[in-house]
Amino acid sequence: MSPRIAPSILSADFRRLGEEIAMCEAGGADWIHVDVMDGHFVPNLTFGLKVIEAARAATTLPVDVHLMVERPEQYLEAYARAGAQVLTIHAEAAPHLDRQLMHIKALGCQAGVALNPATPLSAVEEVAHLLDLLLIMTVNPGYGGQAFIPYTVDKVERARFLLDQADSRAVLQVDGGIGRATIHDCWRAGADCFVAGNAVFGAADPRGEIGALRALCAEAA
Ligand code: DX5
Ligand code: ZN
Repeated sequence: MSPRIAPSILSADFRRLGEEIAMCEAGGADWIHVDVMDGHFVPNLTFGLKVIEAARAATTLPVDVHLMVERPEQYLEAYARAGAQVLTIHAEAAPHLDRQLMHIKALGCQAGVALNPATPLSAVEEVAHLLDLLLIMTVNPGYGGQAFIPYTVDKVERARFLLDQADSRAVLQVDGGIGRATIHDCWRAGADCFVAGNAVFGAADPRGEIGALRALCAEAA
């Protein structure tokens, strides 16, 4: 299992988004994480189709779209067409997870489910075998630059167990407050994909930071 680093463009400089994404690619990023927020499911409003299209045009890396929206089923087709390779919906916003996961797969995308810190893992237990990605939120979604919630590490560990039990090869992603101080604990707990916004774009050397984060995963406990 090798770690994937997915810079979140929420913390990028939007005046030069294309360059910021190219810089991530040059720095060895694995995915580009795009946070779509609707101002309802989370108390913040970000961006939609146009930015997904722009991200798609700026890189050959997979565009990983994290949908923090109510009724995500309304947008799946349009976002797949805009170039998303990974579409992650929140269990809290999607009562028909089986249907939506199958829908995302039928659109040719990898299907992910995200869980807020307060949402138990049991929300995905029955569909674990259908997941291409499980996202354990390590902050309450809505904003970049928040502090990592320490008790989520234990949940990551249990999520790894759940996926292993289901014989799932799903990516186990963490998102929120991931940086030099927190990435290793999540890696050790079994996460293999790390979203990082502030840690990458707020670093003095954002390119180098991607490698530095990856190296912290490789280090022994
Ligand atoms: C939070 C978003 C994250 C955010 C992470 O709701 O889902 O992807 O950009 O930002 P950092 O890494 O700064 O916590
Ligand atoms: Zn995110």
